[in-house]
Amino acid sequence: LAGTTAVVIDVLRATTTIVTALAAGAREVLVCRAIEEARQRATRLPGERRILGGERGGLRIRGFDLGNSPSEFTPERVAGKSIVFTTTNGTRALLHCRHAKRVLLAGFVNLSAVAKALEAEKEIHLVCAGTRGEISREDALLAGALANCWSDRPAVDDDGWESWNDQVWLAADAWREALDLPIPRHRYPMQKRLKFHNKAEWRSECAALENAMKLGQGARDLLALGLHDDIAFASQIDEFSIVPVFDSKNRVVTVAPQDCAPKRNRQGGPRRSP
Ligand code: MLT
Repeated sequence: LAGTTAVVIDVLRATTTIVTALAAGAREVLVCRAIEEARQRATRLPGERRILGGERGGLRIRGFDLGNSPSEFTPERVAGKSIVFTTTNGTRALLHCRHAKRVLLAGFVNLSAVAKALEAEKEIHLVCAGTRGEISREDALLAGALANCWSDRPAVDDDGWESWNDQVWLAADAWREALDLPIPRHRYPMQKRLKFHNKAEWRSECAALENAMKLGQGARDLLALGLHDDIAFASQIDEFSIVPVFDSKNRVVTVAPQDCAPKRNRQGGPRRSP
């Protein structure tokens, strides 16, 4: 990953939750690998400003203020706060990207904003956090959705070589299948962008995505814990228009100031893709 751009993906739920927290006005998210490290780091922050958040086994950690459900990170709860955060896979995936030149965080909730932010990038690594060391369906679906947004970027270069590796092709096919889009027989540049013409169309695509995610292990783990709502939340395509950036030196995630408004796209219906 050294010197390249990495996009960290943990749809269920770490990156979805971090995007949501920052869109709700959190000042920053301090990323920690271990629970004890998070506790220590929190003690170095002013009491009124800090919030401890995260999970182990999908559940809120004992003594922490919040778990890892995106809906917990409301403006009332997190605006202006520094969130010290640790999760099983997502925060590890972020820390894994420490040598990348630029590290962005993606969920379906900020899909188009991330796709747009990547337009000028030459070499991109989509880093899927996965579940228990294995690739997970929802992360692969988002990787495929991002690839499908790059319709201006030829999937085949001038010399006829494919510029996507097979993993991206598999992810793109999975995404198109989940949304009932045609899968091209020949590897030509994909043209399809996400476009929702009205709110009903947006809702139906989000519902199709939610159903597709529910087939995966990550979602099944959440369903077993009764956390159905988190899957629906994570399926809200383009709910937010921010792009969080990870500063690996300071292990902190923030959004660029110009990115802060508008934070939520829902008013006036879904936002169109770039
Ligand atoms: C993780 O980072 O492992 C996930 O966000 C797990 C979870 O959803 O609780």
